[in-house]
Amino acid sequence: MENFDVVILGAGAAGMFCAIEAGRRGRRVLVIDHARAPGEKIRISGGGRCNFTNLNIAPERFLSQNPRFALSALKRFTQWDFIARLDAAGIAWHEKTLGQLFCDGSATQIVDLLVRQMREAGVDLRLATEPGEVRREAGGFVVETSRGPVSAASVVIATGGKSIPKMGATGYGYRIAESFGLPVVETRPALVPLTFAEQELAGLKALAGIAVPARVSAANTSFDEAVLFTHRGLSGPAILQISSYWREGMALRLSLAPGTDVAALLRQARVASGRSAPRTVLAQILPERLARHLEARAGIDGPLAAQSNAAIDRLAQAVTAWDMRPVGTEGFRTAEVTLGGVDTRHLDARTLQARTQPGLFFVGEVVDVTGWLGGYNFQWAWSSGWAAGQVA
Ligand code: FDA
Repeated sequence: MENFDVVILGAGAAGMFCAIEAGRRGRRVLVIDHARAPGEKIRISGGGRCNFTNLNIAPERFLSQNPRFALSALKRFTQWDFIARLDAAGIAWHEKTLGQLFCDGSATQIVDLLVRQMREAGVDLRLATEPGEVRREAGGFVVETSRGPVSAASVVIATGGKSIPKMGATGYGYRIAESFGLPVVETRPALVPLTFAEQELAGLKALAGIAVPARVSAANTSFDEAVLFTHRGLSGPAILQISSYWREGMALRLSLAPGTDVAALLRQARVASGRSAPRTVLAQILPERLARHLEARAGIDGPLAAQSNAAIDRLAQAVTAWDMRPVGTEGFRTAEVTLGGVDTRHLDARTLQARTQPGLFFVGEVVDVTGWLGGYNFQWAWSSGWAAGQVA
C-alpha cells in the first residue's frame, strides 16, 4: 500500500492551500479529488474573476454555532497574507465594492498558482479518484480509493459542502465526520435566492428583472445592497446575505429607497405638483414599473392633491416597510455555500484537528463556519487550510 504523511481529500481552495503548506514543511502529501480538474469553484466564482477575499474580515461576518471559532485561523493567515501571495505571483487585483477583492483577469490565474505551488512543494495530485471509507489503522489512517487504498499519518477532509451538486458537491465530509463520532450541525443552503408561494409570486413576477438598492431585514439583521426581482422570487446580494439568517416562517422586510424620507418627498410634491400621480414622484427614486406596483399595493388612486395624509403615509410605508413572507430557498442547486457542518466544539480552533481523533483535520466549507457574501468564504478556506497545513 502507498504511504504518505498527509492525505488530503478535496482539491478545492482549502485542500490545495493546506497541501502547499504541508508540502513546504517537507511532508509527503497526496491530494485526492473525484473531479477531473482542481479548484472548479474558484474558477467559476465571482463571475470568473474570483472574489478571493475581503478587506473587512471580522469574526462577526462568519456564521457558526461558535462565532469565535474562526478567529484563530483568520488571524494567523489574514487577507493581507493572501494578497501578498497574489502580489508575489504578479496576479493583479482590484477592490470592487464593500472591501471585495477580485482578480483583474481570470480566476484561473489563482487555480494555476495553487497547482504550481503544490507541484513546487512536491505534492502528488490525483484527480478523477473516488475516496471511500477512512479508517484508523496502526497509528495512522487508511483511505480506500477507487485506485486502491493509501495510508497516512494525517488525513485532511477538504471536500466542501453540499452546494451545487452538479459541480461535484457530495456531503462526503459530513459522513466521514460522523463515522469518527464527530457531530455535524444541521446543514442548509445559504447565500441563496428566496422563493415565494404562488399567490405572492403572482404579484412579484411582474417586477422580474428589476434591481434596486434596498435594506433587507430579518432576524434582527439587515443588509444594504441590491435586491433583484426574479420570476421565482427575490435574489441579488442583499437577499443572498439575508438568506443565511432567514428561517422558514420568518417575515422579511424590504426598505426600498434607503436614505430617502419618502413621506416627506410625497408631501412636498403634493404641494408643489398636486396634479402629478404619486407613482410619478416615486419614479424619481425607483424604477417606474416598481413605482406603479407599489402605488397599486397601497391602494392609491388619483393625483397627489387628492391624497390624505393617511394615504401618503400608507404609500410611504409600502415603499419603506414592505413585509414579505418567503416560503423557502432555491436550495443547494444554486446556493453558494452550506450553512452548518462539522461541529466546531469538536475541533481545535488553532489547527482544525478533531479533538478526539488526532491526525484527522477538517478545513474549509465542510466545517460549521460560513462567511458572508463577498470573499469571506474563500478567506476561510485559505486560513483554515493554512492552519491545518502547519501541523498535519
Ligand atoms: P470546495 O467546494 O471549493 O472544494 C471541495 C473539493 O472537494 C472539490 O474539488 C470537489 O470536487 C471535492 N469533492 C467533493 N466531494 C468529494 C468526494 N466525495 N470525493 C472526492 N472529492 C470530493 N466564495 C467567495 O469567497 N467568493 C466568491 O466569489 C465565491 N463565489 C462563488 C460562486 C459560486 C457559484 C459558488 C458555488 C460558490 C462561491 N463561493 C465564493 C463559495 C466558495 O466557492 C466556497 O466557500 C469555497 O470553494 C469552499 O472551499 P472548499 O475548499 O472548502 O470547498
